[in-house]
Amino acid sequence: MSYDKNWAKIDPDSVPDIKVTPPGPKSKEIHNRAEKYMKGYSSQVKLFPVSFESGHGVTLTDSDGNKYIDFSSGIYVTNLGHCHPKVVQYLQKYTAQLMNCHDFSTEIKALFLEKLASMTPGNLNGIQMYCAGCESVEAAMRAARAHTRKYEFFSFYGDFHGKTMSAVSVTQVADITTGPRAVGMHLAPSGHCYHCAFDKKYPECKLFCVDALERQIQMEGTNNVAAILMEPIQGWNGSIVYPDDYLPAIRNLCDRLGILLIVDEVLTCCARTGKMWCVDNYNVVPDIIVLGKGLANGFPATAFAIREEMTEVLEKISASTSYGGNPMAAAAGLASLEVIEEENIVQKSAGLGEFIMKRLKKMKESHKIIGEVRGKGCLLGMELVKDKGTREPFAEAGKRVYQVAFSKGLAWIPANHNLRMSPPLIMEEIIADKALDIIDESITIVEKEFGYI
Ligand SMILES: Cc1ncc(COP(=O)(O)O)c(C=O)c1O
Repeated sequence: MSYDKNWAKIDPDSVPDIKVTPPGPKSKEIHNRAEKYMKGYSSQVKLFPVSFESGHGVTLTDSDGNKYIDFSSGIYVTNLGHCHPKVVQYLQKYTAQLMNCHDFSTEIKALFLEKLASMTPGNLNGIQMYCAGCESVEAAMRAARAHTRKYEFFSFYGDFHGKTMSAVSVTQVADITTGPRAVGMHLAPSGHCYHCAFDKKYPECKLFCVDALERQIQMEGTNNVAAILMEPIQGWNGSIVYPDDYLPAIRNLCDRLGILLIVDEVLTCCARTGKMWCVDNYNVVPDIIVLGKGLANGFPATAFAIREEMTEVLEKISASTSYGGNPMAAAAGLASLEVIEEENIVQKSAGLGEFIMKRLKKMKESHKIIGEVRGKGCLLGMELVKDKGTREPFAEAGKRVYQVAFSKGLAWIPANHNLRMSPPLIMEEIIADKALDIIDESITIVEKEFGYI
């Protein structure tokens, strides 16, 4: 299937294009109708309740015709741009051919699995397919239990692994847990240096947090720890990048203690961090890797992959679900993996990420309320603080900067005092520059509002 390789190219002067102050009348009317029944929106929507009509490449258009630069990729999902023609073509073909045949094999599923297995790190070749990230996380946890015959898990402060019952037990987001964690689920301080739980400084600390984790596993665990489950870079918590030796140290700890390492790459996979898999940045191969979001560029398809010698255990946790691995999901997944290779998306992500990071670092120098900028590849973010010395989080400013920038034509992702950026990996630098101008101007406006200027 062929398509114009310049399909997403746009005139930089054409974006953003705000015709009506957003959210405009049509946006409001549609949102009000939906909101009457749809309850429980994300802060992304609550803070800026716009309604969208279409997406093309690196832009989004709302119901009033306003055009935004997309710095969110949905929510780290449409890595290859909105409605990538190859993904659309594959989806159209297979949607018209066969939508569902439970977990029977289809040629498109075989093609997808062969492609994915050829790309996964190490020998992570035992694959199961699901629809949501949390489903794959939970299935990976079941596989770890079945393999080790142990049931405890350790994850980290600030981790997010999804909103189903076991996923929330390994997640640290107070407002979604709705009660105590399940028995055997433990949280430990992570290697988040900017807010170190132990008040240490890297590298003099010599990764004290990993030693502390080892003690916690010994003291709190009951010799029944199946796995450490972690995000290699924390997304929801504010694009938290750990020191380069942190992940290898966790791998080493797992090996010494004889427990499995599950790396949740739902958010970081498929070139988002400037490598195909985030673990490639650290030369670490986990025992199980969990994939989602960018895997099928917007179609709900997720998966986990487990070491070849552990695959026997997958028979014990039956993979079949109503929709997992359906032909449409496999088609969208295959198209996405092919595009990543054909369009050198890994290199593009690394290059664009470096370009953005350079500007973010400059921005940090010129603004009093930017405490830290961080990221890898195109998984980026900044933390707003009331004072660079005390590092006190500045959630009110974070919300305002998000809103002001959105109203100027930048669609992106808030998380209280952390602002998160995840542009489509195909974005040209000139467009990213315009997005960064908007962020820069918006921070200045908010600094004025809060009396910093
Ligand atoms: C690291 C991580 N794991 C799991 C999930 C859950 O994925 P889903 O929302 O598809 O269930 C998310 C979602 O944002 C995530 O960021």
